[in-house]
Amino acid sequence: MDIVTDSLDARTACRNARANNASVGLVPTMGALHKGHLALIDCAKRECDFVVVSIFVNPDQFGRGEDFDAYPRSSEQDFELCRRHGVDMIFYPETDTFAGGGRTVSVHESVLSQALCGRFRPGHFDGVLTVVTKLFNVIEPDRAYFGQKDIQQCILIQRMVRDLQYNIQIVVLPTIREEDGLALSSRNAYLSADERVRALVLYRGLKAVEESLRGGVRSGTTLRRLLVEKLREEPLVEIEYADIVDLETLQPVVDVSGPLVAAACVRLGKARLIDNSVFNKNGEAWFPAG
Ligand code: PAJ
Repeated sequence: MDIVTDSLDARTACRNARANNASVGLVPTMGALHKGHLALIDCAKRECDFVVVSIFVNPDQFGRGEDFDAYPRSSEQDFELCRRHGVDMIFYPETDTFAGGGRTVSVHESVLSQALCGRFRPGHFDGVLTVVTKLFNVIEPDRAYFGQKDIQQCILIQRMVRDLQYNIQIVVLPTIREEDGLALSSRNAYLSADERVRALVLYRGLKAVEESLRGGVRSGTTLRRLLVEKLREEPLVEIEYADIVDLETLQPVVDVSGPLVAAACVRLGKARLIDNSVFNKNGEAWFPAG
């Protein structure tokens, strides 16, 4: 497994692989790898001949006062995990080289990026789309793998691929959870043992929405109220947002008539946690197509 820091070297390695008829799969990450990331890597290994994992804590997607400095970094452990999972190449660029350079061009999406997390993290999705574009341009993958855990990110990247005519297949895979339901996240490392238990309220809220949908509730407002009520059962949790939105437009649902997302973001101690479930109109788990 090669660990490559230089963009040109990384591009050359991927072009060489493709010249040998290998399909190239890319799994973009910010490191601190956990089973959620590994599920993406394993799927890429099954579907592609040459798998690249990028590890880059991207300063452009962190706002002022956010956790860029505190974000967990564990490169040696990440390299070992990638090695064990059969990754062919790690792209591990340096912050100053890959994010610096006085860039004056960025990728901006103007509608979907304003919903959900975008309301609270101005500029965040510009940072994500810009770095993902750069990764696409360096690695030139046939397929790129993303987790449903960050559903808005998935939808924006699918939209970018469509609007900018990238010839890349976006594969979205389900959220990997701990046994008790907590979605795996690098940011769970910020939780104390007590907060870790309280964080489960997110999953309970999403389960309550699922039950109501299955029970026949079709009002988005009612479902949203239920989600908020559930989250409020945990007093230490501060709700940033809790919404029932249309899977395509990310706008609040009035009457449930198609695929929808129940999505929430809470603050708990030092952690900002997000989670979501995607349902069809009958409340069955519905998986966003690639
Ligand atoms: P990061 O948070 O490291 O996540 C990398 C990928 O792993 C994303 O596609 C994310 O959705 C996925 N992932 C995280 N937790 C998961 C879980 N519990 N189950 C399944 N997949 C999970 O997302 C980013 O990095 C960045 O924004 C990035 C796309 C790399 C751009 O900087």
